Amino acid sequence: MTVNVLFVCLGNICRSPTAHGIFEQKVKNAGLQDEIVIDSAGTGGWHIGKSPDARASQFALERGYDLSHLRARQTDPSDFLTYQYILAMDNANLADLKRMKPSSYKGHLGLFLDFGDNPQYREVPDPYYGGDDGFQLVLDLVESACDGLLLDIRHQL
Ligand code: 4NP
Repeated sequence: MTVNVLFVCLGNICRSPTAHGIFEQKVKNAGLQDEIVIDSAGTGGWHIGKSPDARASQFALERGYDLSHLRARQTDPSDFLTYQYILAMDNANLADLKRMKPSSYKGHLGLFLDFGDNPQYREVPDPYYGGDDGFQLVLDLVESACDGLLLDIRHQL
């Protein structure tokens, strides 16, 4: 039995693929790649089939995380059958997911940064329309929340 984790943002080209790629690397480093299944998706459908944003990919690569294998997809109601953790980057994503959630869902649906260590940030700010600093902030927030999430999951394995 695996623990299945889905990261969700709006477009699935900036924040959630960053979380996907970083968490994948951390899980691999911990030798838990057969225990933990990881995916990401966007609540919006504009970028289906696209690679991550070039800026997100470049800055992630500079920190040692390769996002080049990832392709955007949209969230689907069947995700609630597959993923025990569904983690939203911001409150708007979370609200959309709550509308989609079947009443029978027993997994963890919440904000990804609940696993982070920076109490100033409950949401991962959308970097899409901003400058490079926004992408670096996404990486900082996502790296620490991935560490917290891995600790949480380890307690269940
Ligand atoms: P993401 O960023 O949700 O972190 O992938 C965005 C990407 C694209 C758009 C919005 C946010 N967009 O409006 O196209």
